[in-house]
Amino acid sequence: MARLETERLLLRPPEFRDVPAITTWIGDWDVAKNLASVPHPYREDDAQGFVARTIEKHAVGEGYCFAVTRKQDGVFMGNCALQLKDGQFELGYWLGKPFWRQGYATEAAKKVVSFAFHNLKATSIWAGWYHDNPASGRVLQKLGCRHDGAEPRFSLARGHEVYCHRMALTREEFGRKKAA
Ligand SMILES: CC(C)(COP(=O)(O)OP(=O)(O)OC[C@H]1O[C@@H](n2cnc3c(N)ncnc32)[C@H](O)[C@@H]1OP(=O)(O)O)[C@@H](O)C(=O)NCCC(=O)NCCS
Repeated sequence: MARLETERLLLRPPEFRDVPAITTWIGDWDVAKNLASVPHPYREDDAQGFVARTIEKHAVGEGYCFAVTRKQDGVFMGNCALQLKDGQFELGYWLGKPFWRQGYATEAAKKVVSFAFHNLKATSIWAGWYHDNPASGRVLQKLGCRHDGAEPRFSLARGHEVYCHRMALTREEFGRKKAA
């Protein structure tokens, strides 16, 4: 599995040693409620299962999940992932709350999207953000994504459907954004 580097980040495969940090950060309601398939409360067993699944999915080419770690001290901050569904990659990401609003999600997602287009030869990617989570909408806007509809999407943590904006980006659009 690839390791990717940005100015401030090392993106590497998640490992079982990340389980305590994953459990703490995803266990936060403000993180869990904005994700589609995360239970709340979140236990160490859930994180163990999550890491095991990322290894299995990577082995069959169905998912590429990166631990987002800070280069300067190796601190695990969150995840940024691509999941293959119906022939198209969905981008997803989360960070522990202490790491918000420092540009880390955008920096990580930009690199992972570039990996999707250049290494995985994806022609387009998509991502969803719940209407009450504008920070994620802003990250996707900064990546150059365009609005591509909206629909209710189930949130496991909330236990009900939530209005969700769909954003899309083609390889050409990403190239244009980078050149701009
Ligand atoms: C969404 C999330 C990953 C963003 O991480 P981050 O590292 O703070 O993101 P960045 O710093 O790269 O960018 C955030 C942008 O949103 C903006 N923002 C933050 N809170 C906002 C709010 N309440 N309303 C509008 N914009 C907001 C920031 O100002 C920044 O934009 P700017 O660079 O133009 O100033 C993080 O909040 C998170 O993990 N949330 C919980 C899980 C989640 O929502 N995952 C995404 C599911 S679709």
